[in-house]
Amino acid sequence: MNIDQTVALPESITITRPDDWHLHLRDDAAMRAVLPHTASRFARAIVMPNLRPPITTTALAVSYRQRILSALPAGMVFDPLMTLYLTDNTRVEEIKLARESGVVYALKYYPAGATTNSDSGVTAIEKCYPVLAAMERYDLPLLVHGEVTGSDVDVFDREAMFIDQILRPLVARFPNLKIVMEHITTQEAVEFVMQAPVTIAATLTPQHLMLNRNAIFNGGVRPHNYCLPILKRESHRRALVAAAISGLPKFFLGTDSAPHAQHTKENDCGCAGMYTAHAGIELYAELFAAEGALSKLEGFASFFGADFYGLPRNTQKITLKRQAWTVPDVYPFGEHTLVPMRARENIQWQLIASQT
Ligand code: DOR
Ligand code: ZN
Repeated sequence: MNIDQTVALPESITITRPDDWHLHLRDDAAMRAVLPHTASRFARAIVMPNLRPPITTTALAVSYRQRILSALPAGMVFDPLMTLYLTDNTRVEEIKLARESGVVYALKYYPAGATTNSDSGVTAIEKCYPVLAAMERYDLPLLVHGEVTGSDVDVFDREAMFIDQILRPLVARFPNLKIVMEHITTQEAVEFVMQAPVTIAATLTPQHLMLNRNAIFNGGVRPHNYCLPILKRESHRRALVAAAISGLPKFFLGTDSAPHAQHTKENDCGCAGMYTAHAGIELYAELFAAEGALSKLEGFASFFGADFYGLPRNTQKITLKRQAWTVPDVYPFGEHTLVPMRARENIQWQLIASQT
């Protein structure tokens, strides 16, 4: 950040209440622990279906949504937008049910074995062609975890390879299917989304915008900076930042906040996922401010996602103040704890008001 930008920064900003277009809420006590962080910042969130067992049907999504609403603290207003977990066995009829339910907004495509709780994922996308055709007809977006899974493919190359092997053919075959490439991490993904038709968009997480892969190995292995897709090198991070502050409506906010109990990350085989919901808008504000692009935050956080999904923009406002605060070392997580992004460090922006 240069000095001119520092001088020009406002004391506070007020923007339309944002939405989180990619969120893991889990269930039960874990959900009750994390939900208030999201609901006090965001009006809506696309809720990921990778529970155990996964949310594969509209009926399961309807009851999961009820559990989320029941877990909301009194006075909080929040609309969970549900998704279904696409499998090899998803039925075409399910797409009509999903659309007509009024509560399911997309299907999530996890290549089998790509990430946390993805063992029921799709083994070969061709198996889903009839379902994808129905989604195209019913205008239900496909949300993609864009990584190939073969153990022969370098973990840092999995996203770029997915674009060439899976995504380009898919876009060509289903020209009217809306696709969100979730949590993009590479320059290749940015370029792909930019040159793709308007039916293709992408979400960007705070960690992939703010950290490069050095953060995984900073003075020793840092399990709390391990997520999937894995953090990439600095040149990729710069490409993501350029996309986020570009003002292009194809790129919008999705935290991918993915809570895991501390002991399951600080482990011989640690889980993938970073928890960011505690600062789900503040981290982006800090980044956009450092880039001299605060005027672009509202479109990215509050408008472009709603426009892509064909939903009304929110009308309420939130206010953030430029005042540093220190993130706690842990938050309670059911009977466990979780370690948030920036634990024990400062964040430069603070949420001071959120209309509901
Ligand atoms: O790091 C991740 N964590 N990536 C994912 O795709 C899933 C997520 C989770 O559910 O924990
Ligand atoms: Zn995710």
